[in-house]
Amino acid sequence: MTQLHSIQAPLDSQQIAHYLGDALHQLRHFEVFGEIDSTNDWALQQCIDNRPLPVACCAEAQRHGRGRRGRFWASPRSSNIYLSLAWPFRRPLAELGSLALVAGISVARTLSAYGVLAKLKWPNDVLVEGGKIAGVLIESRIRLGRASEMIIGVGLNVAMPVAEGRLIDQRWTDLLSVYSGEQGLERNRLVAELLYHMMDHCRIFDEQGFAAFRSEWDRLDLCRGRVVEVRQDDKCWIGEARGIDDQGALVVQTEQGERAFNAAEVNLRI
Ligand code: BTN
Repeated sequence: MTQLHSIQAPLDSQQIAHYLGDALHQLRHFEVFGEIDSTNDWALQQCIDNRPLPVACCAEAQRHGRGRRGRFWASPRSSNIYLSLAWPFRRPLAELGSLALVAGISVARTLSAYGVLAKLKWPNDVLVEGGKIAGVLIESRIRLGRASEMIIGVGLNVAMPVAEGRLIDQRWTDLLSVYSGEQGLERNRLVAELLYHMMDHCRIFDEQGFAAFRSEWDRLDLCRGRVVEVRQDDKCWIGEARGIDDQGALVVQTEQGERAFNAAEVNLRI
């Protein structure tokens, strides 16, 4: 079987369950869809319907795959991974901002088992050799006095068809292009491995906070020590990225002094 054939083999809940092994029992429900509007929408609806959490789903294709800031996420059929996990967190809400960084680490760990070295561009882009291979979209349902229900949506490009790739307005890559190992690439296995790390990291993050991931983030941080352009609303700052603070905010040394950004668009200046 060629690499592309094994990638395009259908997603199958039994195979994913097999690869997940005992880790599957952490989930109250797991579903595989042929086509769906957005796996994040489904996960959010589970929260709204008060279904027991955690739950997760993945899909062969998304009709309206969503990226950050209302962008679209290219979600062609049988090519990539579109995965969402809804997880209840007890940690204070103020600390949950760094969950996106933790999800990026989950993707990087998954890829490293394939010999692929990913870097993380704050807050939630996963890059390999300068191209974006995965993105993370965090959404939430917060109710006073209840666990914070967080949706972690991950899109991982595995074998992006050329025609769909042309619609993407940033430099991107996929696993097929950067993988040089012998092992066949299988999406069922990849979904299980990614989900395994995501669940493991959610549990650790809820128990110990971002401190447990800090050194791994520092090692994977693409921006640290480089000049970045940070856009927030209609303002723009340029300065050297100095890593992140304890809340996961990006710290930049600008001409006006050190500033921490909670939410912004970051571009590397070459
Ligand atoms: C980004 O980099 O802008 C985030 C992209 C997140 C895409 C994933 S695919 C699975 C989940 N469902 C969605 O509609 N979006 C996320």
